[in-house]
Amino acid sequence: MNQVIELIKTDVKKEKPAANALGFGKHFTDYMFVMDYNQEDGWHHPRITPYAPLVLDPSVMVFHYGQAIFEGLKAYRTKDGRVLLFRPEKNVARLNLSCQRMSIPQIDEEIVLDAIKQLVEIEKDWIPNEEGTSLYIRPFIIATEPSLGVHPSREYKLMVILSPVGSYYSDQLKPVRIYVEDEYVRAVPGGVGFVKTSGNYAASLKAQEKAELLGYDQVLWLDGVERKYIEEVGSMNIFFKINGEVVTPKLNGSILGGITRDSVIELLKHWNIPVKEAKISIDEINQAFQKGELEEVFGTGTAAVISPVGELKWKDTTMNISKGNNGNTLANRIYEEITSIQLGKAEDPFNWTIEIK
Ligand code: COI
Repeated sequence: MNQVIELIKTDVKKEKPAANALGFGKHFTDYMFVMDYNQEDGWHHPRITPYAPLVLDPSVMVFHYGQAIFEGLKAYRTKDGRVLLFRPEKNVARLNLSCQRMSIPQIDEEIVLDAIKQLVEIEKDWIPNEEGTSLYIRPFIIATEPSLGVHPSREYKLMVILSPVGSYYSDQLKPVRIYVEDEYVRAVPGGVGFVKTSGNYAASLKAQEKAELLGYDQVLWLDGVERKYIEEVGSMNIFFKINGEVVTPKLNGSILGGITRDSVIELLKHWNIPVKEAKISIDEINQAFQKGELEEVFGTGTAAVISPVGELKWKDTTMNISKGNNGNTLANRIYEEITSIQLGKAEDPFNWTIEIK
């Protein structure tokens, strides 16, 4: 696509938040990236503009039929001041997978990757460097054709916004408590569970609300047909360590193929720790727990990084996993290694990081 990204400058700069007041996705930087699509010109006019509200016709299709997709990745600042991205090409490829499933025209992955790099370079002063912080990058596409007919939109906007963030949960390594949802479902075969479309998250809110009311942090989804096989957690993929072997649900068309999930599998293989992707039932997990063989459970995600799970509540059964755990866990070891690679503190034998210069 050989298009030059226009830069529209602003002198108005926001005050940057203190590192201890970041939270997740609450503050946004001074600039954003925008590119438009129409049938005549395809994807066109890539530009970096001052961060500002959008003006949209009330009839644009995203408001009515939810044709919207997004991604999430992070930029990190190393001790010696370099700026690193973690496997950004994977996010851009997954954005195209989401486009394909949601009938959105394919994007040129190179230009979107280039846009992310240029935007982060311009906003590099916003990258916090305290332990556990980073600059969260949120690319997304919305349908902008003003029309109420149900058909794929003929106009779109692709945007990238940036948010300096702390950890997703209030305490990164404090084990989370998870409610195994057996009433609502997230995805079914043939549906959209394997892509990052906004409706997946909208549909999950009821169950998340229920879990929170019951005192849990997140929901663990079971398959949408038999409500028996484990799929994923609200904002993470999930891993179990049973008798020394690590297992995670196999990508089956209704689970999101997480980039951190993929990195953890590669890292475990590199460490010669047995790891497999398999169809796992909640019954099997409960049996392993009852036999004392369920050693660890942890979630993985860009926002959540590696998040140990301390408790699983399934119907009347409470599986208390982290009892007697002294913190010397595989989840902690993985967290240390992945974040060290992301922060340029450890060697990167996989070539996962890309430096922005
Ligand atoms: C991410 O980990 O980047 C996600 O997209 C999860 C998000 C819904 C908080």
